[in-house]
Amino acid sequence: MSLKKVLVASSNPKKVKEIKEILTPLGIEVLIPPKKVEVEEWANTFIGNAYLKAKTYYEVFQIPTLADDSGLIVDEIYPYPGVYSSRFYQLDVFGREKPEPSEDIANIRKLLKALENKKNRSAKFVSAIVLYLDAGKIIASEGEVKGFITTTPKGDKGFGYDPIFVPEGYNKTFAEMEPNEKHKISHRGRALKNLVKLIEKLQCSS
Ligand code: IMP
Repeated sequence: MSLKKVLVASSNPKKVKEIKEILTPLGIEVLIPPKKVEVEEWANTFIGNAYLKAKTYYEVFQIPTLADDSGLIVDEIYPYPGVYSSRFYQLDVFGREKPEPSEDIANIRKLLKALENKKNRSAKFVSAIVLYLDAGKIIASEGEVKGFITTTPKGDKGFGYDPIFVPEGYNKTFAEMEPNEKHKISHRGRALKNLVKLIEKLQCSS
């Protein structure tokens, strides 16, 4: 099996940019959907929601489709933000926040409040990737990176919770890293590299 092009089932430009930065050097062209497709992410696992996104976009565009479902798991308040990471600010638990000045900043504000005075700040990012090749033909991969949540945001690169996440073994947040430095150790970088290995294995055995 040879994979030269994949469609990315996402309308989050920052996530698509990261996937592009990781896959392009590996020889895979990343296509952006010509229109947004509504996907009801009703599963309670990352892999379940990645499957729903990949399948829905594949059914609309009929091109091999890759979806990432990812989020931040914070031990002290498990299972939050978890599968609710992108809309954590809207949830009633720990009090709602207004999406101002942006959804990402509202999510960070709420998480820092929920962890106020808490000693255990350990956390991990998880990424589940599903590549939907054809009806019933899928490849799945997962990646994670452990770290901790800071008490104040730092850095302006990346997206989402990057300004408050320091990976294990580092003393700077993801938002203070250059993109390639983050991709080498990030949950998404690891999941995508593993996915490419699985694709290569299939190429050898077909
Ligand atoms: P999804 O698009 O439903 O998978 O939502 C993922 C959410 O998890 C994003 O909106 C971010 O809030 C968070 N997230 C996932 N990956 C990252 C990352 O690499 N950095 C920071 N936040 C992330």
